[in-house]
Amino acid sequence: METNTAHLTKDGIRLYQADDFAGMAKAGALAAQILDNIAEHVVPGQTTGELDRLITQWVDEAGAVSATIGYKGYQHASCISVNHVVCHGIPGDKKLKDGDILNIDVTVIVDGWFGDTSRMYVAGNLPRKAERLIQVTHDALMKGIEAAKPGNTFGDIGHAIQLYAESHRMSVVRDFCGHGLGRVFHAPPNVLHYGRPGTGAVLEEGMFFTIEPMINLGRPETKVLGDDWTAVTRDKSLSAQFEHSIGITADGCEIFTLSPGGTFHPTYG
Ligand code: MF3
Ligand code: CO
Ligand code: CO
Repeated sequence: METNTAHLTKDGIRLYQADDFAGMAKAGALAAQILDNIAEHVVPGQTTGELDRLITQWVDEAGAVSATIGYKGYQHASCISVNHVVCHGIPGDKKLKDGDILNIDVTVIVDGWFGDTSRMYVAGNLPRKAERLIQVTHDALMKGIEAAKPGNTFGDIGHAIQLYAESHRMSVVRDFCGHGLGRVFHAPPNVLHYGRPGTGAVLEEGMFFTIEPMINLGRPETKVLGDDWTAVTRDKSLSAQFEHSIGITADGCEIFTLSPGGTFHPTYG
């Protein structure tokens, strides 16, 4: 619960101050650096549990705190979602196979600020259909980020993402969304990855939130497995996701979770 209402919009969205951008940039940079560092470890035969163990160690070595360990009972420093897993995949003993695609999602807390980012990786050779899905999902996130500027609405962001994904005959997951963050992990608003232009709250300088579209090759419906976390596509089609944490500036936005090594997209680096 937000206790100080001094900087809340009428939609209950907190507006942060100019000084607060530096805190978010530091947290975002650590999360992004960890995602850069994990890339060389994503190989066939590797387990997702070992990847999470490395991430846990690096968060610790940086003197930061994992936002996900202990969050609603979750016990890992990352979510690792392989192939038809949409999000919230739990790291474990299963070995990656050649051609598997996976999203790794890391949220760290640095000096009280939350940095939340995820991106796609491939173990071994990238199958053609998966390559298309990853490209479209990455570009859909970037379309959403282009729409993230003062005066636009959250509906404009969702619409840009939906239009792009559906024009490539892929579908947007409706069951999960982006979120406000800052000194908390999840805050208003829900950032939908679909929508109509001009609807929803108006974007204002100082809003901090994530955009994290999940795009499927098949239908958009998901279900959560018996572990109460793992969300999968109902039709077992491949799913991909990219996530950035951003802050609205006077004329656009600052991406807090840019890859220090320029390897956000798996085939760029
Ligand atoms: N990082 C995820 C997000 O983008 C949330 C993961 S919560 C967990 O919002 F408990 F599943 F780790
Ligand atoms: Co998030
Ligand atoms: Co995340």
